Amino acid sequence: MSRAVSFVALAAVVAPLALAACQSLLPVPTAGDAARSNVTVERLAEGRTRYTDKCSSCHAPFAPSYLTAAAWPKRVDEMAGPAHLEPADRELIVAYLQAFADKGSARR
Ligand code: HEC
Repeated sequence: MSRAVSFVALAAVVAPLALAACQSLLPVPTAGDAARSNVTVERLAEGRTRYTDKCSSCHAPFAPSYLTAAAWPKRVDEMAGPAHLEPADRELIVAYLQAFADKGSARR
């Protein structure tokens, strides 16, 4: 009994911390990011919201810097079915991921 209670208490403390740790990998768009990527800051922010909503139920969301801008669309398309993406979700999520994608030479 006391064991169950302490597990619940621990989960209540750890879960928000784990979520905060994941979200820090996901940059919050600024006006500068919008200008650089040629997408409005509102659309980038909406893309970030939909990315966390639609893409973090099975695994922690990957940082946008995990892939290059060229590689993201294909990967999002592979996940679109299981994530139940509408075309508008796909567009916003890709725009967000590309704005903060890996700037290195294309690796994948
Ligand atoms: C229904 C569960 C599910 C949802 C929802 C989901 N994924 Fe995944 N994802 C997986 C599984 C399982 C893997 C590992 C196997 C694979 O690569 O297909 C994976 C792997 C990945 C990888 C790593 C691929 C690699 O090997 O480099 C990326 C990136 C990714 N997902 C992005 C996304 C994005 C973006 C979304 C939202 C559009 C999303 N996932 C939603 C199940 C899911």
